[in-house]
Amino acid sequence: MAVVGWVCVRRVRSAALSASVQPSSLSRAPQEWSPDSWRSRATHDGHPGRLAVAPYTDPDAVVRVEKRLAAMPPLVTSWEIENLKGLIAEAQEGRRFLLWGGDCAETFADCTPEVITSKLKILLQMSLVLVYAGKRPVIRVGRVAGQYAKPRSSAAETRAGPDGAPLSLPSYFGDIVNGAAFEPDARRPDPERMVQAHQHAAMTLNFVRSLLDAGFADIHHPEYWDLGFLRQAGLHDELRQEYQRLTERVTDGLRFMDAMGSGPAHRLAQSVGFFTSHEALNLHYEAAHTRTVPRRAGYYNLSTHLPWLGWRTREAGGPHAEYLRGVRNPVGLKVGAEARIDELLRLIDAINPSNEAGRLVLIARLGAKNVRRALPGLVEVVRRAGRRVLWVCDPMHGNTVTTSAGLKTRSFEDIRAELSEQWQVHRELGSGLGGVHVELTGQDVTECLGGARGLREGDLAANYDTACDPRLNYEQSLELAFVLARLMQGGA
Ligand code: PEP
Ligand code: CO
Repeated sequence: MAVVGWVCVRRVRSAALSASVQPSSLSRAPQEWSPDSWRSRATHDGHPGRLAVAPYTDPDAVVRVEKRLAAMPPLVTSWEIENLKGLIAEAQEGRRFLLWGGDCAETFADCTPEVITSKLKILLQMSLVLVYAGKRPVIRVGRVAGQYAKPRSSAAETRAGPDGAPLSLPSYFGDIVNGAAFEPDARRPDPERMVQAHQHAAMTLNFVRSLLDAGFADIHHPEYWDLGFLRQAGLHDELRQEYQRLTERVTDGLRFMDAMGSGPAHRLAQSVGFFTSHEALNLHYEAAHTRTVPRRAGYYNLSTHLPWLGWRTREAGGPHAEYLRGVRNPVGLKVGAEARIDELLRLIDAINPSNEAGRLVLIARLGAKNVRRALPGLVEVVRRAGRRVLWVCDPMHGNTVTTSAGLKTRSFEDIRAELSEQWQVHRELGSGLGGVHVELTGQDVTECLGGARGLREGDLAANYDTACDPRLNYEQSLELAFVLARLMQGGA
C-alpha cells in the first residue's frame, strides 16, 4: 500500500448535497441518505443491533469528539479504496483471491511493533502459500488499524463485586468505547477513546505503510517474514518443512523470472498491496470519517478501506445498514446460518442498488454443520437474481464453543471442516469461493483447539490472550493456509 499523497478533504454535514458533488452517481442511492441519516434509526429500544451503536451517556461530549475527529487527517484515501474495489471486482470474476484476517478485537495495548509485524508476517506467509497453490494474485486485507469496537448482545454484565454482592457494569464494547477491566471507571463509555482509536489506527498504519514501502512484502525475500519462534523447534516439523519447500520453489521461480527480465509477473511480485478493514460498528467514529473528496462523487469512509456489517447489526432498516448504503467503499456483509433469503436480498439491494462490481463481499459464517443446509440456497438465489457479490468464508464465528472452564474456543477441525464444506459447495455450484476471513494472530497464543500440535482444553490457559474471540495462532494459521492450498489444487 503506497502512500499516495495528501487528500484535501471536505466534510459536508448537512443532508443537502454540495454543489460540487455530481448527482449522477448519488441518484442511484435513495435520496434521503446523508452521513447523518443513520442517527434517526439508532434508538436504544432494546434491539441488539441498535444497542451496539455504543452506549454513551453524554451526547454533547460525543458531538464534540466527532467534530474534532472530522477535522483530523483521514487514515486512508479514496484512491486506495477505489483500487481495492477494482481488485474485488476482479475477484468476483475468479481472477483474484481475498485473504482477510486479524484480531477479533484489536486493543490499544497491542499497538506494538512486535504484534503488528507478526500479524503482517503471518498474513504474508499465508498469502504466499495461496498464490503458489491458486496461481492467482491474492488481495490481502487485515482486520487492523480500527478493529476496536465489539458488538454485545447485552448492554450490561453482572459479576460478583468486591464485597461478593452482584455488581452490574456496562459490557466491554471494545477499546474504542470503554476498558475491559471489570471496574466502574474502566467500563464507563468514554467518547475520548474514539480519538485514541484514531491515533492508534494512525500509528499502526504508519508502521505498516513504511514496512511495505521499504520492501518488507517483496516475495523475493520471504525470509523477512520469518517469525522468530518458527526457527526454534517451535513450529510443528512437518508444517515447517512444507513451508520451506514452498518458499524455495517460489524463490527459484522468481530467480528465473529475474533472469528473463522484468515482465508484469515480476513487478507484481515486488509490490504487494495491503488493505485495512474493521466492523463499521461505532457509527459515531465512522460518521466522523465520512467525507467527500475533490473530483469524486459521493461520500467515502476514510477510516478504513473495507468496512463490514456485522451479523448482529444486519437489520436492513437499522442504523448500520443505513450508514453503509451511502458510502462508496466496498462493503462486507456477514451472513449467518439463520439468514433468510428475502432479508439477504433486501440488504444486498439496499447497499448495492446499482449492482456495482467490487462493491459487495458476502462473508458466510455458518458453522461447519450448517453449511450443506444453508449455503447452497443462498448462493443460488443470489446468483439467479444476478447480484454481483464475492463469496468469502469466515470459518470462525459459526464454530465458537465454551469450555467447561468457561473459555470461549473453536476447534481447528470445525474451522477446517467449514472451510472445506464451503469450498465444495461453491465448486459443485460452479460459483467459486472467492476468499477467506479469519481471526488470527502472529503470536504464539493458545486460544483454538487442535491443529498440528493437537492443542487440548487443558492447554488453553497457557497463553489465552484475546480481548474477545479465540484466534488461530501463527502455526494454526499457516496450517489453515495449507488446507486451503490443497482445496485449491483439487484435494478434499
Ligand atoms: C467478528 O467478525 O468479530 C464478529 C463479531 O462477527 P459476526 O458479526 O459474524 O458475529
Ligand atoms: Co470475532
